[in-house]
Amino acid sequence: MRGRFLSLEGGEGAGKSTQVRALAATLGARGINARITREPGGSEGAEAIRALLMHGEPGRWSARAEALLFAAARADHVEKVILPALSAGEWVICDRYLDSSRTYQGAAGGIADAEVRALHAFGSAGLLPDRTFVLTLPAELGARRAANRDGAAADRFAARDAAFHEAVAAAFARIAAAEPERVRTIDASRDKDAVTAAILADIAPWLA
Ligand code: TYD
Repeated sequence: MRGRFLSLEGGEGAGKSTQVRALAATLGARGINARITREPGGSEGAEAIRALLMHGEPGRWSARAEALLFAAARADHVEKVILPALSAGEWVICDRYLDSSRTYQGAAGGIADAEVRALHAFGSAGLLPDRTFVLTLPAELGARRAANRDGAAADRFAARDAAFHEAVAAAFARIAAAEPERVRTIDASRDKDAVTAAILADIAPWLA
């Protein structure tokens, strides 16, 4: 039986990585083998592309070149890691996926949503998660948490200004409203166990 594909999305400091680990541990305790992965990256080739994307000057790549690099990394990740795992019956829990491209490169970066999706159709046959959780947090809280975590080591994206991050958050909200079957919004300002419980409640029908 094919595994389920879940993605976690949201702005900086929303606690995605913590939730990815908590979710995998909970599923594991129920006998479900869940593979944790992340974007950009997750496969050898995609991790090499990640290094190109995350370091250097904010203006290192044009918006179009950047969108292509993310789509190329995703294509490798989907082909080499995600699809084989799902076919083997594993669940896949991905820290960021296509919706990050739609919000960061798309809405905030100025690339049309249809263009981001066209790249995804070409690179990854349009593969979408069975469920996507958008973790939301008031902007100041997210910025504070990310600053505490990263200190001076903020990457090319975290270093962008408040207006950029607001555009990202607004775009996640639009995607959630437009695709309610796939996308669920989760209030991530609560303590981490409450956030995990909310995610688990949503997928409970798949665990019965
Ligand atoms: P990362 O260090 O993985 O951290 P976090 O998810 O905690 O923010 O950073 C990944 C960065 O890349 C993040 O700022 C969002 C950005 N990104 C895009 O711009 N487009 C994409 O398609 C993906 C997957 C990520």
